[in-house]
Amino acid sequence: MLQNIRGTSDFFGNNAEKFDFVIKNVAQQAQLHCFESLQIPIIEYAEVFLHSIGESSDIVSKEIYSFLDKSDKQIALRPEFTAGIVRAILSNNLYTQTLPLKFFSHGPLFRYERPQKGRRRQFHQINFEIFHKRDDNLHLLEILSLANNILQNLGIKTAIQLQINCLGDSNSREKFSTELQNFLNKRKDNLSPESQLRLQKNPLRILDSKSKIDQEILQDAPKLSDFLSDNCQKKFTDLQNNLRNLGIDFVVQANLVRGLDYYSDVVFEFVTDSLGAQNAILAGGCYNNLVSQMSEGKTDLSAVGFAGGIERIIDLIDLQDKFSLKKHKKLAILPVGDNLQIMAMQLSNQIRNINLNTEIIIEKNLKKQLQTAVKRNFSHVIIVGQDELDKNIVIVRDLQSGQQNEILRDSLLDFMQKI
Ligand code: HAM
Repeated sequence: MLQNIRGTSDFFGNNAEKFDFVIKNVAQQAQLHCFESLQIPIIEYAEVFLHSIGESSDIVSKEIYSFLDKSDKQIALRPEFTAGIVRAILSNNLYTQTLPLKFFSHGPLFRYERPQKGRRRQFHQINFEIFHKRDDNLHLLEILSLANNILQNLGIKTAIQLQINCLGDSNSREKFSTELQNFLNKRKDNLSPESQLRLQKNPLRILDSKSKIDQEILQDAPKLSDFLSDNCQKKFTDLQNNLRNLGIDFVVQANLVRGLDYYSDVVFEFVTDSLGAQNAILAGGCYNNLVSQMSEGKTDLSAVGFAGGIERIIDLIDLQDKFSLKKHKKLAILPVGDNLQIMAMQLSNQIRNINLNTEIIIEKNLKKQLQTAVKRNFSHVIIVGQDELDKNIVIVRDLQSGQQNEILRDSLLDFMQKI
């Protein structure tokens, strides 16, 4: 029996409906916030991701799907959008357009992770980025407010917490990193095996270790907040005041560091307790050096963005009936006799032109056609038989009430518009 690859999923039925609902709803929010759509390739040269996300990050060191193509080029399946989007901005000179650049993307991503609830090898994201030149919190606030609006509009009932932290500029982060490394080196033998591995290459990631012993050791460790420059401190305090003014609840989470190297300044995650260990729904932050780094200093743009995991969002939404296609299936046309099928098809196109969902049902006889229409949740059927055709009428039946009307062919569209 053929199986799907571990960590990948087929979406059908309820989950497929939820998937479509999320994309539609989020695309609407993107438009309301004036984000343009940007679709980029699923495959890129692997180097697009290697330095940007960071060689020592989990994604690059063990999760990237990459292969040599037939001309010996190292190709990678995208593990995230951000680096690919920066590549697209540089390859297409989009940075010459009037700033800010605001992009919305969505689609599949690939990471060779150990599959578990909320962690897939192929998963899907909605992704937002703003590229700009401002040195204040305006676009960060715009992004946080957008993320907040998105979650509210999806009708998620579960409690969600916004966690924020400030990583500072690369200077302060490097100083802190060295201090943290010195502190942890002295306690190395007591650290968890995973943190011992991270100690040399990426000590900051130890901060979000889930191990209890690591957390205890970290209680006395130097604090990142003590290393922030005055400017960063001020911006972080301003951000918190502004979030309060906008009525967006948050907590400062001093150990939030994120698993991708390109972040600077403020990072954030929207988390919930109800998804198990993989608790982040939307996550992102500022990355003010990535454009400069990827363009080798030729272009300099600040940036801020976030991505949300569609599978994790789907697990949290309870699709209300009003959004469900099942409740929107309106009309089935039942041609009684093979010679009437083309006529039924013409009729169905006319009815679709007035925006009613319509399908033709073909079965052995009318009884079967009606049974199928009920099973497939249609609210009304139009019965088209030769007798009716000769009289220039059709029969419209309401499947809930059983009420049936003979309608003149010429007034059918008017009648249908009222149901
Ligand atoms: P990320 O934290 O790696 O950030 O992923 C963002 C979200 O994608 C996560 O919070 C989660 O909901 C979902 N996600 C990640 N990995 C998986 C997985 N294996 N299975 C299911 N869902 C997953 C980024 O990708 C950054 N590019 C976000 C960003 C955009 N930062 C700035 N702009």
